[in-house]
Amino acid sequence: MIEKVRGPKNLKRPLVFAHRGASGEYPENTRIAFKKAISSRADLIELDVTLSADRKVVVIHDDDLDRTTRLVGNVRDFESEILRELDAGSWFSRKFKKETIPFLKDVLDMIRKSETDLNVEIKSTAMDDVVSGNSIESLVLDLIRRVELRKRILISSFSWKCLERIRTIDPEIKLGVLVGEESGSVDEAIGFAEKVGAWSVHPSVSEASKENLEKISAKNLLGVVYTVNETADMRTFLDRGADGLFTNFPDRMRKLLRKEY
Ligand code: G3P
Ligand code: CA
Repeated sequence: MIEKVRGPKNLKRPLVFAHRGASGEYPENTRIAFKKAISSRADLIELDVTLSADRKVVVIHDDDLDRTTRLVGNVRDFESEILRELDAGSWFSRKFKKETIPFLKDVLDMIRKSETDLNVEIKSTAMDDVVSGNSIESLVLDLIRRVELRKRILISSFSWKCLERIRTIDPEIKLGVLVGEESGSVDEAIGFAEKVGAWSVHPSVSEASKENLEKISAKNLLGVVYTVNETADMRTFLDRGADGLFTNFPDRMRKLLRKEY
């Protein structure tokens, strides 16, 4: 399980982050992908959340339903009772046609019963202009608190404003600063991470140079790289000093760690 303390000290790593679950072999962000990640002994499952029309926290990567379901349209335009019924597996393979879109509440129940922790990525498109009790930040924190899982959850976002809001509501929950084209550079992410007392910085493979990973580590932050699927690439980033990798193949990474690290 991930440690309570911020920073790399005393933490068993590198950490396996199952990206959208075991999404290399199962449809992303579904229960079966999460179950497989748990059985692969991933340290954390990463998933993406946004809001339904009735403001339930839905687990799905894209803003629309087009790619991963048989319906077309924006997730935020549909009520949860409709979303809940949608086939979220057939696009990947007909054999997963019974997989439906999960809600964060359901996944938290799975996490509670497992040894694997959770990284909730909040989509910036789900944010309101002004934060309120009904905003995604508050709704996510309420769900986590209700099941007393606060210490086992890492919240990340490309929107640093979202992370700032989370920190205002909850002074202790672990935060992961995602580095993307629109969010800012690795140096800026490190500065921001220090300001909000984040746990980790998440650069993409193109930003994860040895130098950048060392800079992250020098500030006692964890550097977790997205998304690394080939064994040879896993070695490359681990050898550069990554503290963890987001991978669609948690099994593959676990095997590598067992043999070589
Ligand atoms: O959190 C790491 C990674 O998931 C960020 O990119 O597009 O896969 O959500 P994306
Ligand atoms: Ca994600």
